[in-house]
Amino acid sequence: MIDWDKLITEAKRSRSNAYARFSNFKVGAALLGADGRIITGCNVENSSYGLTMCAERTALFKAVSEGIREYLAIAVYSETSPPTRPCGACRQVLYEFNPLMEIACANADGKIDKFTLSELLPEGFKL
Ligand code: THU
Repeated sequence: MIDWDKLITEAKRSRSNAYARFSNFKVGAALLGADGRIITGCNVENSSYGLTMCAERTALFKAVSEGIREYLAIAVYSETSPPTRPCGACRQVLYEFNPLMEIACANADGKIDKFTLSELLPEGFKL
């Protein structure tokens, strides 16, 4: 069973580290590894706007670089209503590792929307 409360709490904590000086739109993510480890990420913006990295990919790239390759779930925390869904680029990057990954999108109102990655990205690209 996935401890969604814990995962969302970690995503919220990571959101507080978001570097979002251009959009002021802060996002946090927490990825659950198959071994139970949680890896967090926030969005990191740049003066050269196109170089911005989303919270979900920050978490995923951190995890891969730590040698973690199997993921069960990701929580995404924002303060929008409805809660922010992963962008298309993040969906494809997550799809590489687990098309059936479970996703919870949560916000400050306590709203939690759950999906599988294949629901959000049907027929993703895979070599
Ligand atoms: N952003 C994320 O971090 N995750 C998403 O799922 C959507 C968008 C960030 C990127 C940028 O820093 C800001 O939100 C506005 O697009």
